[in-house]
Amino acid sequence: MDDIPFNKPYMTGMELQNIEEAVKKGQISGDGFFTKKCHHFFEKRFGFKKTLLTTSCTAALEMSAILAEISSEDEVIIPSFTFPSTATAFVMRGAKIIFADSQQEHPNIDADSIEALITPRSRAIVPVHYGGVPCDMDKIMHLAEKYNLYVIEDAAQAVNSYYKGLSLGKIGHFGTFSFHETKNISSGEGGMIAINDERFADRAEIIREKGTNRSAFFRGEVDKYGWVDIGSSFLPSDIIAAFLYAQLENLDAIQKRRLEIWNGYYEGLKPLADAGLFSISPLTESNNGHLFYLVCRSLEERDALIAFLASNQIKAVFHYQPLHRSAFYHAKHDGRPLPHCDRFSQCLVRLPLYCELSQENVLYIIEKINEYYDYQASAPGFK
Ligand SMILES: Cc1ncc(COP(=O)(O)O)c(C=O)c1O
Repeated sequence: MDDIPFNKPYMTGMELQNIEEAVKKGQISGDGFFTKKCHHFFEKRFGFKKTLLTTSCTAALEMSAILAEISSEDEVIIPSFTFPSTATAFVMRGAKIIFADSQQEHPNIDADSIEALITPRSRAIVPVHYGGVPCDMDKIMHLAEKYNLYVIEDAAQAVNSYYKGLSLGKIGHFGTFSFHETKNISSGEGGMIAINDERFADRAEIIREKGTNRSAFFRGEVDKYGWVDIGSSFLPSDIIAAFLYAQLENLDAIQKRRLEIWNGYYEGLKPLADAGLFSISPLTESNNGHLFYLVCRSLEERDALIAFLASNQIKAVFHYQPLHRSAFYHAKHDGRPLPHCDRFSQCLVRLPLYCELSQENVLYIIEKINEYYDYQASAPGFK
């Protein structure tokens, strides 16, 4: 058996052709032919009012923080179990981060714990849809209305996933997506912001274009363009968009394959989960097949499982380290324990999941996980 990596970026075969077309068109900076096609795709397929490609999900989060006018007066509530970008976009505006715990059963933010964290300084809640599994958006939006807060959905992993029929990333004021090579749809590095509240549509274009009204100028709405606001260079070149568009055109095939793999893991590992050896990714109303995980009973067991799989040529990996314990922020955290976040950091392991992973590979991985637990069961001291 060849080595099974954790991830392999999927190529549809049309990427280079699209890039060549972009080059031949002679306009390879941002907002060209393919960028517009990508925007149109997302708006038509998922019903977003306005989308703008960005260089990354991090950039989209940074844009959201500027649009929400986050300042050093503000507090922003985010889960501790997430990637640093979810926090740093707001820290860059001077905000204090208030970390929420995960749910007991799932790494997503525990919506029931949020209200107790709200103070007069609270300005925004940033739910992260872990693995494309929706957070409890009804509860979160209810709190946001009650306390007049912004909601920025970190939908980095949530493309093509839904909550009660609505695309994730479309429910809060803003939604942010990642097209990093580990995501279902990729352009190497890349991202997008969905602007769901029309009040922010014009300013979003300006902030993305270095604080200039260049987008309005290109649409012929102003006769010259200049510096009108703060901003940065948040837009990707049309070469990136050309690559991304090839992936978007194959979204259904990509999703179908990822879900076959996901379901294969689910069926194959459910008996072990039912026997109480670990818990697994939940079956949910909407599943974009972004990741499949196990939550082991202890850190030692998880690390030993990762090592056992590695010794069998299988690369399985853990995930986020708690941000409330991070070198950068732990001293600023208010000291509240966040036990569920800690447990997911210590016990969660993600299995390989990419389109090229064969059925044979999936069965082999399941077999090796079974073997690990059989071996453990025969070890002295096993309960
Ligand atoms: C939840 C979450 N938010 C944001 C990001 C950052 O995405 P990007 O690499 O596109 O900036 C990631 C990265 O994987 C992520 O997992």
